[in-house]
Amino acid sequence: MACCHYYQLTPEGDQLFSVDVSKVRFGPGAIDEVGQEARLLGIKRVAVFTDRRVSELPLFSDAMAAIRGADLDPVVYDAVRVEPTDLSFREAIQFAADDHFDGFISIGGGSVMDTCKAANLYSTHPADFMDYVNAPIGQGLPVPGKLKPHLACPTTAGTGSECTGIAVFDLLEIECKTGIASRSMLPDRAIVDPRWTDTLPSSVMAATGFDAISHALEALTAKPFSSRPAPVDASVRPMSQGANPWSDMACREALRQCGEYLVRAVNDDSDHEARHGMMYAATLSGMAFGNGGCHLPHAMSYPVSGRVSDFFPEGYPHDGPICPHGMSVIVNAPAAYRFTATGCPDRHLEGARLLGADAQEVVASESGELLAHHLQKMMQVTGIPNGISGVGFSQEHVPSLAQAAATQQRLLSMAPRPVSEQDLHSLYNDALSYW
Ligand SMILES: [Fe+2]
Repeated sequence: MACCHYYQLTPEGDQLFSVDVSKVRFGPGAIDEVGQEARLLGIKRVAVFTDRRVSELPLFSDAMAAIRGADLDPVVYDAVRVEPTDLSFREAIQFAADDHFDGFISIGGGSVMDTCKAANLYSTHPADFMDYVNAPIGQGLPVPGKLKPHLACPTTAGTGSECTGIAVFDLLEIECKTGIASRSMLPDRAIVDPRWTDTLPSSVMAATGFDAISHALEALTAKPFSSRPAPVDASVRPMSQGANPWSDMACREALRQCGEYLVRAVNDDSDHEARHGMMYAATLSGMAFGNGGCHLPHAMSYPVSGRVSDFFPEGYPHDGPICPHGMSVIVNAPAAYRFTATGCPDRHLEGARLLGADAQEVVASESGELLAHHLQKMMQVTGIPNGISGVGFSQEHVPSLAQAAATQQRLLSMAPRPVSEQDLHSLYNDALSYW
């Protein structure tokens, strides 16, 4: 195994790692089995979460036919907000609490799946909204028990939310994303039908695909699980436990496929091999970061998507300004990887090579530059904005972005080297533009 020295087992550090993944059904036609799978889980009256764009697709009609064909009693909630907020989460929770559902199906991108996880959580174990939200922003209280069954059906190739116990949203009062993380929220089934990608706008394919790339790069370069102190109790071992041999395996294959398929998938919407390959890579990346964790690029992305005020990307609803999650991650990523590379240069070099960079004659000390430069080239040929200035930020915004990102300790603590608020200040300056 490359980088085997990355895992140094010591008496003080954690010597165990866990593998927690949803049971996956993958392949063209998978959505036709969603009703049967739900019935096998004992579901009868089911809440079906989606958004308006997805609800108008022919495959959504197929999914509903499969649900009704399995004798289930579905009620559709199609008011999910793209890039959800605490407000839109609360509305979805109210919907779930007002009925007596015995299971949930989410059909959509990360916004839909995350909203469904929150609705399941708070309607099953009611609590004050901030109780389960990650500390230090929320109380970070543990979920007290099992949730109702949830079948997650991703329609984009990027988020990986079908295989994670994480739900992310914009907390409006602080204009920044945060999340809820618990193994209890891991969906019981991931029904992954790559045919959803056949109709994705290219801009959505690009933003979500780069999210998948950064999930895999961040999980590969996260601090090793063995560097964390051993938990006092098995129940408190975090899901973001750090890089580990299992997540490494998923990261490597995900990055290899992203390197082969992302540019093709964005630039040719008839290239089904590439688009379906990206769907598989995104699911693998989800499994990887769901067990390993993300770090700096995601921490930097949250204030960017939370504070965007004048950006309306093609292919997304125009209800208001948004910076799609994957885009907010990747516009920060080159600056972030130049910085983190000194923490584990071999792994940054490996990531670049897996994505297709020419790593011959590149030494480990140049790995951050190689990876950042390769990502910049991929961003340019897929129409991604040029850094955070490309989505409406300027130097005057940098101090407040850095201050907000510094609160993302769950993520920052997973970076392979320490990150201070002053570092974040320099990093956002570096991320303003790249070419
Ligand atoms: Fe992400």
